[in-house]
Amino acid sequence: MRFGAKVRKIESRTKQIIHFFSFRLKKQSSSFPFWKTYRIFAEEKCSKMKNLDTRRSIRKYTSSDVSEELLNKLFTQAARTQTMGNLQLYSVVVTRDPKIKEQLAPAHFNQPMVTGAPVVLTICADFNRTSFWARCRNAEPGYDNFLSFINAATDALLYTQTLCNLMDEEGLGYCYLGTTVYQPQQIIDVLQLPKLVMPVATLTVGWPDEEPSLSDRLPTESFVHQERYNDYLGQDIDNYYFNKEHLPENEQFVRINNKETLAQVFTDIRYTRKDNEALSAELIKALVRQDFLPHTVLNAKVSK
Ligand SMILES: Cc1cc2nc3c(=O)[nH]c(=O)nc-3n(C[C@H](O)[C@H](O)[C@H](O)COP(=O)(O)O)c2cc1C
Repeated sequence: MRFGAKVRKIESRTKQIIHFFSFRLKKQSSSFPFWKTYRIFAEEKCSKMKNLDTRRSIRKYTSSDVSEELLNKLFTQAARTQTMGNLQLYSVVVTRDPKIKEQLAPAHFNQPMVTGAPVVLTICADFNRTSFWARCRNAEPGYDNFLSFINAATDALLYTQTLCNLMDEEGLGYCYLGTTVYQPQQIIDVLQLPKLVMPVATLTVGWPDEEPSLSDRLPTESFVHQERYNDYLGQDIDNYYFNKEHLPENEQFVRINNKETLAQVFTDIRYTRKDNEALSAELIKALVRQDFLPHTVLNAKVSK
């Protein structure tokens, strides 16, 4: 484990210890001002997910394994996440076998984390288990439709985020791979996902072997609207995107790609209309094959 990960793990452990003692002291000696002060300090430290302040995506991992025991503990804890009807409409496929990682890699455009991480987690929207449960219990499921996919995908993504938060607390590194929904059929085939199971997220997981700097964020007022949606003026955009556009790395991105603006790097290179439309078609086809969309959508002409 690298130094940064160790520090995060020690910080997390310290929080647990402070929390434990502050609870004991609260019960035993709450009349002593010193302990009260200590308790307030401890509660303040524990009341907020401190690791969120320093979280970042990790794309390089040491060769140390992530134990099955630790992963199972996190899987169980993350299951406290809210889900639709408390049905837990998700499944997680754990990949450790290098051969299967090799097979998954092309679906993720061969991003090196897929083969470089000790563990790859594919989180799926899953109505297969619930539908089978219904059939086993003389109930007729009606979940082969798009609404059910959105519900199951919501469950799966919320579960994924809780897992990420728990991994942060453990000092584990992870990277979310959005490519999961770009060429899902390849993932469905490799992992042999049955109908009504759709991959929606992938996390590559391991002990961090890098300490990248924190990425920027838009100011809070740029995305919070009071009472009604306040549509943006050009001046708002100038203010909200100023920092992002003037980061040296982003200015360099613009220069080396021969673009005029950072936005053009996104629209013309990173996430283009052509790619988005082609990948949308793949996604729709996969949703049809997994029974979440009717075959008729493949022939439907969409006019805007
Ligand atoms: C929906 C989604 C898709 C993402 N896809 C990828 C990906 O395919 N490859 C990758 O390296 N990072 C991916 N990321 C990670 C983002 O690049 C990263 O979260 C973002 O740049 C902010 O950096 P940070 O996580 O270090 O704060 C994805 C994150 C999300 C939420």
